[in-house]
Amino acid sequence: MLRQEQNDLLTQTDSGTPMGRLFRSYWLPALLASELPENECPPVRVKLLSERLLAWRDSQGRYSLIDEFCAHRGTSLWVGRNEEDGLRCPYHGWKYDWTGQCIDVPSEPAESGFCQKIKLKSYPLVKRGDVLWTYMGPPEQQPPLPEWEFCIVPPEQTYISKRLQECNWLQALEGGFDDAHASFLHSVVDPKTPRAGTRRFWIESRNSEVEAKLTDYGYLCGATHRLNDKENMIWTAHFVMPFHQLRASFVAGQIQDAMTEGHMWVPMDDENCMVYNWMYGFADGVISADKMAAIEQARGRGEQEQTADFRKIRNKDNDWLIDRRVQKHETYTGIEGINTQDHAITESMEPIVDRTQEHLGTTDRAVVIGRHLLIQAVHSLRQGKELIGLRPSFYKIRAIGKVIPADVHWLDVMKNELYPDGNADVRS
Ligand code: FES
Ligand SMILES: [Fe+2]
Repeated sequence: MLRQEQNDLLTQTDSGTPMGRLFRSYWLPALLASELPENECPPVRVKLLSERLLAWRDSQGRYSLIDEFCAHRGTSLWVGRNEEDGLRCPYHGWKYDWTGQCIDVPSEPAESGFCQKIKLKSYPLVKRGDVLWTYMGPPEQQPPLPEWEFCIVPPEQTYISKRLQECNWLQALEGGFDDAHASFLHSVVDPKTPRAGTRRFWIESRNSEVEAKLTDYGYLCGATHRLNDKENMIWTAHFVMPFHQLRASFVAGQIQDAMTEGHMWVPMDDENCMVYNWMYGFADGVISADKMAAIEQARGRGEQEQTADFRKIRNKDNDWLIDRRVQKHETYTGIEGINTQDHAITESMEPIVDRTQEHLGTTDRAVVIGRHLLIQAVHSLRQGKELIGLRPSFYKIRAIGKVIPADVHWLDVMKNELYPDGNADVRS
């Protein structure tokens, strides 16, 4: 349970708030690179940390992220004309370059120098993998570029999609670190029904033990599921400040070797976030297009499951197309698609859940530690101390699942695979 002021602190990210300042210390995904596929293509609206921005690509291929609105009288530059080396507002013709500098005001004499005095707010926009990343903080404090392993492996080894989640970013993220929910939310009512299939493991494993180890980027979480007297199945996940998760990959109940999946829950405003869903194969692990498509489909993220603006077809306006007959006899939700179930649950709460009213149990340990780290980071920022997750120690971390002997600790057995370059600092 939190106090109201703690809940406000954690959930509000606009520019005047402490958490907003914290988020502006890190690189953030602004959009997918595939949304700006070529020079002079149409611009894309981007809402990030309650700021309304516009992403576009000029004639020379330079990526730009600027204030959405024209400095003259506020026209959305989304209706602007992307022409030679600039974006022209169609209302009175003011033109801006990729840095947001106004370079033409046709109604004023060029020698007046009027347009030189006009510059829109702008942020860097950098491509890494299929993501365009931005940094919205003070330029002199810009951290190293986001060289995540999923961004730098060859394209045939990696895949990313995104989807709108219509609730505050923190309850969306907390759903991702709550290992215990899979046994209900994504499971079936009767293990004997055909639908149970590969979900039997989760049905029979409702008492996992969750441990979280603090690190220099956030924490490493390990959930131990008892298989039998001799073996445990371990599921691991990393929390990397301020909103990243890397998770062991399970497909149809099977551990996927040499593969890690992840999410980034990026606040658009306080009541909506954009979730980026990625997966990649490491150690030369190519993931075939068919396999990626099958995984996306199983997660409820198939192409036919969303609109062109990344909203779910099954959304809160149509009650996620819940089927009460299926819920009665087959699954706990009656909602199709694993990630659609995750979204439905968090969107069914208030847009910003009231954490003064909750009752937490032992399986909520990772959730509690995550909140603690975020609040602690806000204090560190106020005191001018170094923030965790800014140094590149997490670029090569991986999350894996493994069946191990029951008499050993998972960190001892799995550390080298979780940290192949050994850079991160993990405190037991
Ligand atoms: S509002 Fe854009 S040029 Fe006038
Ligand atoms: Fe889930």
